Amino acid sequence: MGRGDPVSFAPAVRVVTPLEDRLQGGHLEDGRHNAGMGWTADDVPDQYGRTIAITGANSGIGLEATRELARNGATVIMACRSVERGEDAADDVREDVPDADLRVEECDLGDLESVRTFADRLGDEPIDVLINNAGVMAIPRSETEDGFETQFGVNHLGHFALTGLLLENLRLDEEPDSRIVTVSSGVHERGRIDFDDLQSEDSYDKWDAYAQSKLANVLFAYELERRLLTADAHAKSMAVHPGYANTQLQFRGPEQSGSRVRKAAMKLMNTVVAQSAEMGALPTLYAATAPDAEGGAYYGPGGFQNMRGTPERQASSDRSYDEETARRLWRVSSDLTGVTYDLPEPKAEVPV
Ligand SMILES: NC(=O)c1ccc[n+]([C@@H]2O[C@H](COP(=O)([O-])OP(=O)(O)OC[C@H]3O[C@@H](n4cnc5c(N)ncnc54)[C@H](OP(=O)(O)O)[C@@H]3O)[C@@H](O)[C@H]2O)c1
Repeated sequence: MGRGDPVSFAPAVRVVTPLEDRLQGGHLEDGRHNAGMGWTADDVPDQYGRTIAITGANSGIGLEATRELARNGATVIMACRSVERGEDAADDVREDVPDADLRVEECDLGDLESVRTFADRLGDEPIDVLINNAGVMAIPRSETEDGFETQFGVNHLGHFALTGLLLENLRLDEEPDSRIVTVSSGVHERGRIDFDDLQSEDSYDKWDAYAQSKLANVLFAYELERRLLTADAHAKSMAVHPGYANTQLQFRGPEQSGSRVRKAAMKLMNTVVAQSAEMGALPTLYAATAPDAEGGAYYGPGGFQNMRGTPERQASSDRSYDEETARRLWRVSSDLTGVTYDLPEPKAEVPV
C-alpha cells in the first residue's frame, strides 16, 4: 500500500518469514503444538488472585478483554485517559459480571507526566499482567503533551514508558507467570522506523505514521523478551494483533479531520467486513492467560486474511525481527521518555 492508497486493515503484503515457513498445520517445526487454534473466551483459565492492568480499557478490544478477564476472576486495573469514560465502561462490565473486581485509574499515554503519576499511584502493588492495548489510528498530525507525533507517542512511547515504570510491579524475580502483552496490528507489515524523522516532522502520512507505531510495538515486544531472557526473569513479553474488529478505532481519524464521508465508509466496512470486538480481543486474552502462550510470539486471528477468527501463532514482518533496529529503537525510546529499564542488554535471540 502506498501513500494515499485506500485503507486496508489486512496486512498489505503477506510477508513470508522464516518463522512462517516453519509454521505447518498449526505445528511448529520443533514439534510444539500451535496451541491457539480454536481457542475462545470460554477457554480463559481461572484468573482469581491475578491482577491485570490494561490500557484503553474503556472501549473496543480493551473493554471486551476487561469483561472476560473480570468474568474469570481477575482484578482488572482499567487504565483510561478519561476516568468518566472508564467508569461508564466499568458499569457496562458489571451489568454482565456483577461481582467484577474493577478499578478505574487515569492514565493518558499522550502525557508522560500522567503515565508517571499512574505508576506512582500503583506504588509497589503487584501486577501479574500488563496489557499495552490503547491506541489511535490514522489521525491528522498532532502532538502529545511532550511534543511527540501522537500515533508514535501514544501507541509506542507511552507504552514503552509505562512498561519500564511498572517493571518492579511485575515482580520479574518472583512471579512465575507475569506477562507483558503489546497490541500491534497487521498494518505493522507496511511499517518502517524512520530514525531520521521519527516524529514525522518533515513529512506526515497518517497511515505511514500508524504503521511505524505498530511496527514499533512488535519490535518493542520482542526486544523486551530478549532482555527478560537475558536477565533470567520469570516473565514473558509477546505481541498480538486483533485482525479487523468493529471498534471506535476506525472513526477517530475521520472525526478529527471532519470527514463525514470517510466516517460513513468506515461504518459500512465495520458492519460488513469486520469481526466483533469480542473476537478481536481473543489474541490478547490468549497471550495474557493461556498456559501455552509463549514469550516472543505474535498471536493473531487465524481466519480469512488474518482479519478474523480464533487466535493462532503467526509470523510478523521480517523487519520486526531485526535486532539492530529493535535495539536502536529501545535506546531512542529511552532517551525520548527518560525511562530506563533495569534489564541487561540482550545476549540471547528471541526463541521463535
Ligand atoms: N479494531 C481493529 O480492527 C484493530 C486492528 C488492528 C489493531 N488494533 C489495535 O487494537 C488496540 C485497541 O484499539 P480498538 O480497536 O479497541 O480501538 P478503540 O475502540 O478506539 O479503543 C482505543 C482505546 O485507546 C484509548 N486511547 C486513545 N488514546 C489514548 C491516550 N492518549 N491515552 C490512553 N488511552 C488512549 C481510547 O480511549 P478513549 O475512548 O478515551 O479515546 C480507547 O480506550 C489499538 O492498539 C489498535 O491499534 C485494532
